[in-house]
Amino acid sequence: MGSDRIIDTEASVTEVVKAALGRTGNPRLKEILSAFVEHAHAFVRDANLTDQEFHAGLRFLAAIGQANTDTHNEAVLAADVLGISTLVALRNNPQSHGQTAYALLGPFWRLNAPDCACGDSIARSNTPGPAMLVSGQVRDIHGQPVSGALIDVWQASPVGLYENQDPAQEPMNLRGKFRADQDGRYHFRTVRPAGYPVPTHGPIGDFLKAQNRHPYRPAHIHFMVSGPGHKTLITQVFSDDSEHLASDVVFGVTKALIGHFKRQDDVASAPAGVTPPFYTLVYDFVLEQGTPDFPEPPIK
Ligand code: BEZ
Ligand code: FE
Repeated sequence: MGSDRIIDTEASVTEVVKAALGRTGNPRLKEILSAFVEHAHAFVRDANLTDQEFHAGLRFLAAIGQANTDTHNEAVLAADVLGISTLVALRNNPQSHGQTAYALLGPFWRLNAPDCACGDSIARSNTPGPAMLVSGQVRDIHGQPVSGALIDVWQASPVGLYENQDPAQEPMNLRGKFRADQDGRYHFRTVRPAGYPVPTHGPIGDFLKAQNRHPYRPAHIHFMVSGPGHKTLITQVFSDDSEHLASDVVFGVTKALIGHFKRQDDVASAPAGVTPPFYTLVYDFVLEQGTPDFPEPPIK
C-alpha cells in the first residue's frame, strides 16, 4: 500500500476511503459507494457532527433496524418521512409522455392480494363506512387501451387502519387484484378510506415529534398497475376533500394524483345494496412502454 493511503489529517480521510473502495468489482456499486462516502463525509463536515451526535445517529439507525419485523417496516417509513422515497420515485418515473404520476410504494403493500372480478367489493369483512365505487380505464401513452391490465389495489379502512394493523378486519380486507377488460376498463367497490397517522410506535415517531411534525396522510387508495410490455405504475389517488393534502407526512401528494371523491345522494343512481350517501371515483391510468418489474414487498 502506498503512503498516500496513510491518513495524515482529517482532510485526507475522504480520499483515502474512496481509494479503498476503488477495488470494488461492480462498477455501478463502486459509483454508488463513492458518491455515498463523499456525501456522508461532507455531511459530517457541514454539520460539524460531535462525537455524541454521531453516536446518537448510530443508535437511531440501529433502532430503525430493531423496529423492523415481518409485519412492520420502519426502514421504509424512515425513507418515506425524509422525502427520499418520493424523490427516488419521481426521478425514476418522469411524466415525460403523459404517463400517470408515480407515488411512493409505502410500507403496506403485500403480495398475493385476492384475485377479484371487476365489480367485486374489496370490503370483505364487516367494514362500516360509506360505500365507494371506483372505475376507470388503463391506456398507453398513445391512448390505446391496455387490455387485461392488472390493477392491484390496497387501502386503509374508514377508521384509517390497514387490515394488517387491525384485528377487527379479516386478513387481506381492502386489498384486491383486478383485470381490466379488453377496453382497459376496470371497476370495483370498496368503502371510502380515511386519512391516517403513519405508525409512530418506533423511532420514526420520536423523530417526527422532535421536528414538531404531525404524522398524518390524506385519505388515498394505492394502485399498482401493470401489463405486458409496460412499466409497472405504482401510485396513489388522493381524496380532493382530504385534510393534510398540503402536509402529507410522507410527501406523496402531487396535483395530478388528487382525484374527485364525489359524494352521491341520489337513491336512483345507487347500485343494488348501496344506500346513499355513497362516493364515486373515476380515475384513468396511463402506462409507458417498458418492462413490468415489481418491487419486493415491504411486509409479509
Ligand atoms: C401508505 O400510504 O400506506 C404509507 C406510506 C408511507 C408511510 C406509511 C404509510
Ligand atoms: Fe396508504
